[in-house]
Amino acid sequence: MKIGVIGSGTMGSGIAQVAAQNGHLVYLIDTSQQALDKAKTNLSQTLNRLVDKEKITSEQAIQIGSSIQYSTDLNDLSPCGLVIEAIVENLTIKHELLKKLETVVSNDCVLASNTSSLSIASLGAVLNNSDRIIGIHFFNPAPIMPLVEIIPAVQTSELVLESITKLIQTWGKTGVICKDTPGFIVNRVARPFYGEALRIYEEGIADFATIDWAMTHFGGFKMGPFTLMDYIGNDVNYSVTESVFESFYFDPRFKPSFTQKRHKEAGYFGRKSGRGYYDYTEGVEWPMPNENEEIGILIFNRILAMLINEAIDAVLMQVGTTEAIDLAMTKGVNYPKGLLKWADEIGLPKVLEQLEELFSTYGEDRYRPNALLRKMVKEQKSFY
Ligand SMILES: NC(=O)c1ccc[n+]([C@@H]2O[C@H](COP(=O)([O-])OP(=O)(O)OC[C@H]3O[C@@H](n4cnc5c(N)ncnc54)[C@H](O)[C@@H]3O)[C@@H](O)[C@H]2O)c1
Repeated sequence: MKIGVIGSGTMGSGIAQVAAQNGHLVYLIDTSQQALDKAKTNLSQTLNRLVDKEKITSEQAIQIGSSIQYSTDLNDLSPCGLVIEAIVENLTIKHELLKKLETVVSNDCVLASNTSSLSIASLGAVLNNSDRIIGIHFFNPAPIMPLVEIIPAVQTSELVLESITKLIQTWGKTGVICKDTPGFIVNRVARPFYGEALRIYEEGIADFATIDWAMTHFGGFKMGPFTLMDYIGNDVNYSVTESVFESFYFDPRFKPSFTQKRHKEAGYFGRKSGRGYYDYTEGVEWPMPNENEEIGILIFNRILAMLINEAIDAVLMQVGTTEAIDLAMTKGVNYPKGLLKWADEIGLPKVLEQLEELFSTYGEDRYRPNALLRKMVKEQKSFY
């Protein structure tokens, strides 16, 4: 099957590489010739690196490289069986593209979006044949991250869902099916990792370095929340939070933080701007955490309990299965353990107790323990 990818930026170029590595002929389209040239140069550098590391042979590199055709002409997509759009995150622009695309491709061509925050139903709404729309959400960098969220919209046909699920599996990726709800699985369940860390900082319980230390030292997370936000970019991370908050009709669980907003406003985006929560100027000393065990454990327990509460809500609302939610967090954002497995290990009564304590201390809806958690504790159940 020939595959079309539209948008040759960070995500589109990675997705094109994945499809080419899996033997497809790929048409990579962008309105900007400069973006296409950049994608082509980057891919050839990536392939050379893979050859150097002996991950692929030089013949394979040539084969992969020559499987991608770069073009600014949407009409080149006419022979494709699947087109994945990865253009700018803007509903109006994506709508215009999808409408045009439908006049170019055949009737049975599947049209997919890599959107992070728009609903797949809203994207499909402009199509004449909307049962072919589906979300295929890769993680950055697409060739490396194993997770792909597969999101059927209310309009998507069973056949399209089945064929895309199979395809993603043959690409060697971990596909998880999730409901077309804001943030899908990962960008919803991960919110407290940032939000609760920011709240703890705002309350003056600990500084950035101490919170990061607590999560890496006690939790085994690869990066602490502030290091990770600086890595993602505070502008990007803040707008995901804001969009999830708005999409959930302002549920206080997802409330954005003034600290992050101010950092974003100041241009303290993180690594890419040289300054975020930390100063990345060469030679500047990294702040030391306060390695007080009692505070560290308190921070870790609080953030983890909030993450587990969110994962349980995703189960309750059938955003994904227990297994899908655990896979999504371990394969999409490298969590050291699935949150629901972690909840079982801690013991659901203990998690409930921690949340009830937060809820009674603050009296805020943000800390309400999930109904499914209460029910499972009452019935002495576990997730696995
Ligand atoms: N960056 C991430 O970490 C990430 C992760 C998952 C999903 N996404 C989603 O993937 C999509 C792309 O994000 P990105 O970070 O790769 O963006 P990007 O800015 O790196 O690339 C977007 C590309 O699309 C091109 N483009 C814009 N309008 C176009 C049009 N009408 N036709 C053809 N090309 C067009 C631009 O020239 C640009 O090269 C967005 O929907 C985003 O939400 C991003």
